[in-house]
Amino acid sequence: MAVRRISAEDHGAAVVAATRPGPALHDLHPRADRLYDDVRAGLSTVPRKLPPKYFYDEAGALLFDRITRLDAYYPTRTELSILERHIGEVADAVGSNARIVELGSGSGVKTRLLLRHLRAPLSYLPVDISRTQLHQFAVSLAGEFPALEIQPVCADYTRAWSLPRTSGDPARTVAFFPGSSIGNFEVGDAVALLTRVRKLCGPGGGLLVGADLHKDRATLERAYNDPEGVTAEFNLNLLRRINRECGADFDPGTFRHRAFYDEEHFRIEMRLVAARRSVVKLPPRGKAGSALAFEFRPGDHITTEYSHKYTLAAFRALAASAGWAPERVWTDERRWFSVWMLRATS
Ligand code: AVI
Repeated sequence: MAVRRISAEDHGAAVVAATRPGPALHDLHPRADRLYDDVRAGLSTVPRKLPPKYFYDEAGALLFDRITRLDAYYPTRTELSILERHIGEVADAVGSNARIVELGSGSGVKTRLLLRHLRAPLSYLPVDISRTQLHQFAVSLAGEFPALEIQPVCADYTRAWSLPRTSGDPARTVAFFPGSSIGNFEVGDAVALLTRVRKLCGPGGGLLVGADLHKDRATLERAYNDPEGVTAEFNLNLLRRINRECGADFDPGTFRHRAFYDEEHFRIEMRLVAARRSVVKLPPRGKAGSALAFEFRPGDHITTEYSHKYTLAAFRALAASAGWAPERVWTDERRWFSVWMLRATS
């Protein structure tokens, strides 16, 4: 595919954009073979653990989209209802002429709501690891918001990344991080990510972020053990992806989905639990290296995700450790979910 260079404030990496129609892509070339390294490392540690960001291949993204519409999965619709109810105040808190950076491009319902109500936003930069999803999203938004500069950034936002220059002069940069995706990071990683985002936004920067709240165990566990079994499929799909992209030979039929609330750590933990003994082979990558075999006995598990739930005080403290101070917080009547407008303190 033909490519052309675009301007970039990056670390000297080649930044190219496809010449296909649609907004130019700021491509930071997230490495595709990282999955293999992370799988190898994650299966070699005790307890075995895989990063949840790998759930989202094409099938995983579709399954997640189904999860967000399940009766049992309250976070998406609760956050959306908060945003809908308070969108005027949210727009005031963001201010006019802002540059909006969204971490993850999602399905876009909340993005559209926000962009429709903001006061003369200058530019919108969705950041996502999936080039195809990002491109499609940017093209559809460009049609709907012709006056807005749309600058998709293909990057793994959990690692170092940079922002392209915006043609105008934004009043401020505001990051948008909905869905309580911050909950999928352990405390140290969450603080590191929020600190990086603060530095990217610069002085006066803002962060509009959703955080799921602590609540009764039954509601929490039902949300991650839906009766339709979609979350189980979403979890097991990770093994299919690893088979396809890393050449492993997991038999997904020998693993069971399990999700429970760990009250000590205020988090849902999702696991894949071996129902019978199996030995999973992971071939070497390229010509170097050797194949690995991982034995699973009945009851052995792989932790695939944490989803942290916060009290308002705990989230405020987390944000403060990353240099963010709360300006506003909105919740629903049941206090199940919170949406925060934070301001960079330095
Ligand atoms: C993306 N993330 C915030 C979801 C969550 O609730 O932690 C992922 C998810 N896992 C199972 N269901 C949804």
